Amino acid sequence: MFAILDGIETLPIHPVFVHFPIALLTLTWAFVLAGYIRPAVAPDLLVGWFEWIGIAFLPFTIVTGIVDADGLGFLTERIWSQPLIWHFLAALSASIVFTGHAVWRRKRTVSRRTVWIDTGLVTLGFWLLLVAGLLAGEMVYT
Ligand code: HEM
Repeated sequence: MFAILDGIETLPIHPVFVHFPIALLTLTWAFVLAGYIRPAVAPDLLVGWFEWIGIAFLPFTIVTGIVDADGLGFLTERIWSQPLIWHFLAALSASIVFTGHAVWRRKRTVSRRTVWIDTGLVTLGFWLLLVAGLLAGEMVYT
């Protein structure tokens, strides 16, 4: 009856987690930008919830990625044509940028300069996430 579950323990677990940070941090990016156009649409509290919940999923996403890659041996092999290395670096950089942005945003005071830091950091994080996702597609689908 549960034949469909046969061998489930051998499947990759990273894909189960990846969607949460991708969705929540993309929403963070969109709402930070929207907040400067229409503040009522994207209050700081909502942006904060999206970003911190997205960040909370990152450790699980990173650890399961390392488990699925059978450890970090690919880093010592240093085959730079491997998409996995670049996926790893882009994903890790995105994680650092979003975490830094979330911490910074809690203490910021709104001024012309901080608008650029805010939108710049969140856009950098979003692009890194996008590159990580594209490289993941190359690994999984080609
Ligand atoms: C922000 C963190 C990360 C995100 C958002 C992310 C995202 C993704 C996505 C979207 C896929 C394709 C899943 C699919 O549709 O099958 C994937 C695959 C993969 N990722 Fe990541 N990733 C992250 C971090 C990492 C890290 C740190 C590693 C460590 C090496 C890693 C290793 C892998 C591997 C090996 C695959 C191939 C599928 C698998 O065996 O799980 N990822 N990743």
